[in-house]
Amino acid sequence: MLNKTTVLLVEDSVADAKYVQQLLPKQKFDIVHVRSLAEASNIMETESFDVILLDLSLPDGSGLSSFQSMKEKGSRIPVVILTGLDDDETALMAVKLGAQDYIQKTDVNASFLERSIHYAIERKDLEETEKKLATYEQREEFMATLTHDLKNPLIGTNRVLELLAEQAMGQISQDHADLLLQIRDSNKILLAMIQNLLDVYRFEKDMNAVVLTRTYLKDILSTCLKDILPIAENRKITITTEYPSNEKLVHADVLAMRRVFQNLLDNAVKFTPAGGAITLRVAPLENEVCVEIQDSGPGMSDEEKSRIFHRFSQGRAGRKFSPGTGLGLFLCKKIIDAHNGKISCESEEGTGTKFLVCLPAA
Ligand SMILES: Nc1ncnc2c1ncn2[C@@H]1O[C@H](COP(=O)(O)OP(=O)(O)O)[C@@H](O)[C@H]1O
Ligand SMILES: [Mg+2]
Repeated sequence: MLNKTTVLLVEDSVADAKYVQQLLPKQKFDIVHVRSLAEASNIMETESFDVILLDLSLPDGSGLSSFQSMKEKGSRIPVVILTGLDDDETALMAVKLGAQDYIQKTDVNASFLERSIHYAIERKDLEETEKKLATYEQREEFMATLTHDLKNPLIGTNRVLELLAEQAMGQISQDHADLLLQIRDSNKILLAMIQNLLDVYRFEKDMNAVVLTRTYLKDILSTCLKDILPIAENRKITITTEYPSNEKLVHADVLAMRRVFQNLLDNAVKFTPAGGAITLRVAPLENEVCVEIQDSGPGMSDEEKSRIFHRFSQGRAGRKFSPGTGLGLFLCKKIIDAHNGKISCESEEGTGTKFLVCLPAA
């Protein structure tokens, strides 16, 4: 059965109220009639309505003040003003102040009234959605600006830390230098997280944010490896690469794909225990180029696997490590989707994890 439209009719003249009630078919409308603003306000405490039909001259309010007090009570409910012969101007003012419509009681028929009510509800819905979207966009914009502004001081601090550690500002002990470099490495993790947040914002806003050039994935991987190798060596993790001699070119956004491999390698190194092994393989298939990143880490259960590409999703391994936001793989998926590529994961608990990234060959 169709949901009925619930109407609060605020009208002190019994004859007028009867007339309006007659016009609206009972099978489509549930009408509650009250005769004053006070009664209206009472009933709105306990009942909700889809629309308010409001007479402007009531025993406890007249003209615009009636509308204003209704609006304060239920700002989300659309209001249609009912007017007599002589208050058109006031009704027009009420519309300017946010009422959805006004109709003349003396000059209304059933279909006109029904239509006015439905348009009022639809228009109000639209207004509310637009309001929500505007605040959502403002919040996102604010987040993006904030994260962007957080980056610069961090980069500056890291430069100073490196200078200090290199003794450029005077002699310090090796212990001090090591400590400073540890702070720099923590800052780098923070920077990577900020970069992920910014990139998520960028790709959510515009799926076409990729700038494609013809490139070899191997070249992008080599750059990423340079960054990750020192960290892997520190943890006695070996990284083996297998690149074919006949790799095909792909169309890729080099910076965005670098973020993908950085995130995948970062996870592999982060979750693999000391002494483990990671293999990086590029496999040219018929029409695509695939990169495999295999690790000897803890693996994942099927349940975990089903959620890893969701925003903020962290599995058992992820929750054990404090530096992480659960955005890495979400971002990878967004970027790969923007390339019309595929990203997938094979993993079993206790036997390690393999991520597979495929892009169409150029
Ligand atoms: N190589 C991996 N081995 C085991 N678990 C992984 C691996 N890569 C990702 N995961 C799981 O997937 C989750 C989501 O990864 P990601 O989006 O990069 O978030 P984060 O690294 O911030 O935790 C991780 O928290 C982890 O539980
Ligand atoms: Mg990660």
